[in-house]
Amino acid sequence: MGWSWNDRPRYGLRTFNCPLDRGQTDRMADQYAYSGDDKRPTEIPAIRWEEPPEGPVLVLLDQTRLPAEEVELVCTDASTLVEAIRSLAVRGAPLLGIAGAYGVALAAVRGFDVDEAATALATARPTAVNLALGVRRAHSAHEAALAEGGDVRQAASAALAAARQLHREDAEASARMAEHGVTLLDELLPGGGHRILTHCNTGSLVSGGEGTAFAVALAAHRAGRLRRLWVDETRPLLQGARLTAYEAARSGMAYTLLTDNAAGSLFAAGEVDAVLIGADRITADGSVANKVGSYPLAVLARYHHVPFIVVAPVTTVDPDTPDGASIEVEQRPGHEVTEVVAPQVPVAGAAEAGGGIPVAPLGTQAYNPAFDVTPPELVTAIVTEEGVVSPVTAEALAEVCARSRRVTTG
Ligand code: MRU
Repeated sequence: MGWSWNDRPRYGLRTFNCPLDRGQTDRMADQYAYSGDDKRPTEIPAIRWEEPPEGPVLVLLDQTRLPAEEVELVCTDASTLVEAIRSLAVRGAPLLGIAGAYGVALAAVRGFDVDEAATALATARPTAVNLALGVRRAHSAHEAALAEGGDVRQAASAALAAARQLHREDAEASARMAEHGVTLLDELLPGGGHRILTHCNTGSLVSGGEGTAFAVALAAHRAGRLRRLWVDETRPLLQGARLTAYEAARSGMAYTLLTDNAAGSLFAAGEVDAVLIGADRITADGSVANKVGSYPLAVLARYHHVPFIVVAPVTTVDPDTPDGASIEVEQRPGHEVTEVVAPQVPVAGAAEAGGGIPVAPLGTQAYNPAFDVTPPELVTAIVTEEGVVSPVTAEALAEVCARSRRVTTG
């Protein structure tokens, strides 16, 4: 690699790339939403490892600025990455795992304290189990290399190799989940023409591949079997409006955005054939933590006899957390609810708390859990890369996870 500690750049974070103006983004969305073509106007990956002459960096597509701008963040140390995780510049369970693993590798190759970096990364957000898992994979590889007598450079290479491996595995898992998911949809809803409702963001922005739930919708679209993707806007941070709509537009899918509270009338009108969501943590009993607003959709789906399908890699299944009540649900700052922030639109004289435009009286308290938990009895099926779990029981889930362990260790 030819890099030494003294060569390390002094910057912590920089941005580059030509920002797109809003009109440009709109034109792209129009062009790709309605052309029916499945091509992408940009190929900026959500995450990538680079080794410029100044030293290795982790480059992230800054998701807080989408869809207004496609801007990359360059992380040169774990603390910058921790901040990017907390601010949701990088987000979504599988991608958090990949980012965490690369973060450990970054600390190792740049000569920082790897244990300290691993702890800070693993605890940056509490709910998505993939984050701590990804950190552990790279950290264990680093420790194993040292224990086998390797030097710091070899240990850093081992951590990086583990991160790259996790990245690849996630891409493969995504493709297999899409296959299983489409097969399941065809079984549950013969005849195609699926109208699928999704929540939050689960596409290539959260994955080494094409995502989880979104990857299934995308595969259905490519097979000509998706009539419409209903996209929940996903208050308060609008991952649906900003990110899923952006991905759907780029993929040429027929999609319609709705406010979260419009879902009920959509079900009542008989316009939803299935709900597809991702997950941040699936407990041993099959409870599913996902973006807040998922549980109300599960209740609606049950009332209206619509399948409620969770798509997640086995890395999201956490056998060590027994049930939904044991999940730590991240509580986020109240200003995310009491203010609105348009991506990249500067706000003159903005309120102190979060820099957005206040939409509630000053001093209003807000309840802002980032996730909610859906009990297994409301989940029709969990689609993993190892197969479909339905009905959702602890035994069936454990069996699918065991299949994955056999593949990894065998
Ligand atoms: O707070 P976020 O944006 O990280 O939440 C993401 C979600 O809830 C996703 O639905 C989940 O991680 C599944 S992504 C495949």
